[in-house]
Amino acid sequence: VLKVTEFISANDLAALLDVSVNQIISTCMSLGMFVSINQRLDAEAITIIADEFGYDVEFTKSIEDELVEESSDEEEDLIERAPIVTIMGHVDHGKTSLLDYIRMSKVTADEAGGITQHIGAYDVKTKDGHKIAFLDTPGHEAFTAMRARGAKLTDIAIIVIAADDSIMPQTKEAINHAQVAGVPMIFAINKVDKPNARPEKIKEELANMNLLVEEWGGKYQSQDISAKTGQGIDELLEKVLLEAEILELKANPDKNAVGSVIEASLDKGRGYVATIMVQAGTLRIGDVMLGGQHYGRVKAMFDHKGKKLKEAGPSTPVQVLGLSGAPQAGDSIKVYDTEREAREIANSREQIQREQSLRTKKHITLDEIGRRL
Ligand code: GTP
Ligand code: MG
Repeated sequence: VLKVTEFISANDLAALLDVSVNQIISTCMSLGMFVSINQRLDAEAITIIADEFGYDVEFTKSIEDELVEESSDEEEDLIERAPIVTIMGHVDHGKTSLLDYIRMSKVTADEAGGITQHIGAYDVKTKDGHKIAFLDTPGHEAFTAMRARGAKLTDIAIIVIAADDSIMPQTKEAINHAQVAGVPMIFAINKVDKPNARPEKIKEELANMNLLVEEWGGKYQSQDISAKTGQGIDELLEKVLLEAEILELKANPDKNAVGSVIEASLDKGRGYVATIMVQAGTLRIGDVMLGGQHYGRVKAMFDHKGKKLKEAGPSTPVQVLGLSGAPQAGDSIKVYDTEREAREIANSREQIQREQSLRTKKHITLDEIGRRL
């Protein structure tokens, strides 16, 4: 029996199993999973891999989990929240164009004078007033990193596929990521305005991958769209809301905020700036927040148009100032009642981090020695 924590990296799992990471990678490949050295693995993948090497797995909680363990909410405290949607797909298939179109056509009039800036996450309102939060194509690495840290940040994935092209390697990867994460997918078959667009061919390719779209009697929603003309985009958003309804997304807004870091960086004038997605609770100015190994009080908050906010509830992406450093994408953000608590956890995380990098270094060195022999 192998005792292991979930979301261990392929490299660390190799060390535990006493095999080379290449063996792990090739084993995964033979099972149809593509993993990289530092990729963290979820429970299912770990179980399958360990089994290949003759181990049963017992999952143990990491200290981290113990520290950030959530108290569960009472049913009556939960209210509906907006879906958080990630747009994924192959290079140039139109992810950014789709998001641009959605943002342009859906922003309300009062934002006219606002400054639009890139913050990696947006919330839009549909014509009939429903909110949807979008993650700006974070790339698969970030998506995996977020999942790895246990942050189930995406409720629904839109897989963009260009109708004048085919299902490409990155399309498959995106589909694979969504499936492994258990995130429902909606296919957006894009560029249908082009004369050489063949949306039916794409649906056929999907069917060949065992992904039957609804109009072909399957369970996957799909929508022909053009990110250029806007054709089909309202319908796509309706399908997103329909999926969200099925998921019954809820959160408790009346507690200390919890969320995830989308991106963070040092801004010369403003100090550390983090874009975070509030997932539950409400984040307010003055709150003590902890993100990764960094903490601090919320000094200011902005929405993606640069408008100042005093508070942000569930499924709201915000830019916050006040952290003592830049946490990593996918790190959890949590509000604590006292600065002392936040500091203690920050310190213990730093410790874990140090130990892990020591262990990884040791492993690589042994591996290299093995190769030389
Ligand atoms: P990466 O970020 O590089 O992975 O690409 P992307 O998926 O974000 O694609 P992007 O939105 O940058 O679009 C790629 C190209 O396709 C651009 O030249 C777009 O103008 C064009 N394009 C995107 N959507 C459509 C569409 O619906 N119709 C047409 N005709 N062109 C489109
Ligand atoms: Mg793009």
